[in-house]
Amino acid sequence: MRLPSVLPAHIAIIMDGNGRWASRRGLPRKAGHAVGSENFRAIATFCRDIGVQYLTVYALSTENAERRPADEVGGIYDLLRKYLAESLEKMARDRIRLKFFGDLSGLPEDIQALAARTEEVSRQYEGFQANICLRYGGRDEILRAARRIGDGGEAAFGALLDTAGIPDPDLCIRTGGEQRLSNFLLWQLAYAELYFTKTLWPGFSKKELCSILTEYSRRNRRYGGV
Ligand code: IPE
Ligand code: IPE
Ligand code: MG
Repeated sequence: MRLPSVLPAHIAIIMDGNGRWASRRGLPRKAGHAVGSENFRAIATFCRDIGVQYLTVYALSTENAERRPADEVGGIYDLLRKYLAESLEKMARDRIRLKFFGDLSGLPEDIQALAARTEEVSRQYEGFQANICLRYGGRDEILRAARRIGDGGEAAFGALLDTAGIPDPDLCIRTGGEQRLSNFLLWQLAYAELYFTKTLWPGFSKKELCSILTEYSRRNRRYGGV
């Protein structure tokens, strides 16, 4: 796999298509979420290895948590418990530091505790960081910051967001074929390069990521300039 010389420091991914991936194989939707969560580990490891600094993924939106059947949301929470327990166990070896964005207060308490513990252990290490958006909504994040901003400017506002201290994503990839943001990082994606692929998340490969990175390296970012 050939990598371009210019890489994004921060990649954001809307990991969509787990349910369809499973349905097409005659499997329950939760099987798609399970393979999807394994694929997250594989893609995060790859990003770490190639020198990307941050990977921020959309794992569960506030809307998903509120509008999907309790059975599906419960299944996702079970996968999360398993994922976090494994991540804690492997942190020293894998060096995938984790942070969580979103309104975690709506999550089951044991998951809140596991997430807090994972962040605490992650702080002992340096290097690549993966941010997992859980019960996250871009509008909700902006509202939470707006309640606290007073009359500060853009930078002060950014420092009140879940992403405080982290540079905005350079590239946002959405798998699953839909071409929308679905309430993801509305503030932070202001100047991100967008890339939409029909590949369903459980089937998204390192090879496809490499070809997206090549396309990214050829784009001309102008930030409003000439
Ligand atoms: C993305 O996959 C994961 C979550 C939203 C939790 P979906 O579950 O939305 O899968 P599709 O889009 O229905 O295939
Ligand atoms: C966005 O996917 C949320 C995640 C991938 C976690 P959705 O499947 O919820 O988005 P919509 O409903 O198709 O816009
Ligand atoms: Mg979807």
